[in-house]
Amino acid sequence: MVTGNQLIVNNITAGYGKRVIINDLSLPPLQTGTVTALVGPNAAGKSTLLRAMSGLLSASGSMILNDSDLMQMSLTERASHLTFMPQSIPQDVSLSVIEAVISALKASPLDGVSIKNSEIYERAFKTLDRIGISHLALSPLNQLSGGQRQMASLARSVVREPKVLLLDEPTSALDLRHQVQVMELTRSLAREGRIVVVVLHDLNLAMRWADQIIVMQKGAITSSGKPEEAITPKIVRDVYQVNVRVERCSQGNPQVVIDGL
Ligand SMILES: Nc1ncnc2c1ncn2[C@@H]1O[C@H](COP(=O)(O)OP(=O)(O)OP(=O)(O)O)[C@@H](O)[C@H]1O
Ligand SMILES: [Mg+2]
Repeated sequence: MVTGNQLIVNNITAGYGKRVIINDLSLPPLQTGTVTALVGPNAAGKSTLLRAMSGLLSASGSMILNDSDLMQMSLTERASHLTFMPQSIPQDVSLSVIEAVISALKASPLDGVSIKNSEIYERAFKTLDRIGISHLALSPLNQLSGGQRQMASLARSVVREPKVLLLDEPTSALDLRHQVQVMELTRSLAREGRIVVVVLHDLNLAMRWADQIIVMQKGAITSSGKPEEAITPKIVRDVYQVNVRVERCSQGNPQVVIDGL
């Protein structure tokens, strides 16, 4: 099997203690250069899946990238290929934004190669610039707004320039402009040759920016595919118990229009 351009995630089982949340779950191939949106109701298991993939939660299954199984790697080795941005971000950290980004880079030397200090600073500042938060570089994390903290957390993941980025609700605290910025960023990160998986609750953000959508419900996949294949009125009704229409806007982009419960 040629796996160089995709991440193949198969037979993932994970949970907490004796409680199994995800049982033998396999994902459609995650292609290099694409953004996959993972959507689904609260408690569907989206964060659990991302934690299992990142190695923060013990899990069984396989994740094949370039013929190697990430699940068999040590956490450090896995972290050199993949980073995970958690849904909840600690608030009580007194580090400045730039210190937090530098510490994320130092915590896990990528590809087993340690990076020179000068390069670390350059990469950290470039990342803040790319995310549009250079002006926050010296601000302590615990004095940021919720959305600013979310952008700083994103910077910590992006600075490591991983092959695979797992972002758990990176837009949940953001205003409209920052949501659009972050979705554009996911696209540009993907186009650089990465694999991006992003958990979203906003179906319209998912439809507009993702190449592929995976709908999860009760620890399993309900549908997946291109936006209009994965998100249909019937699926939204089944999964969220909400009546919607999927219509094309005047520019031809599919949009979810909510009718009601
Ligand atoms: N640390 C934990 N210990 C025990 N059970 C947990 C833990 N974290 C999550 N769960 C349970 O696992 C299930 C899936 O939770 P998960 O956080 O993966 O959902 P989610 O799809 O990310 O939801 P949300 O959209 O609300 O973030 C839920 O029933 C939840 O109660
Ligand atoms: Mg979650």
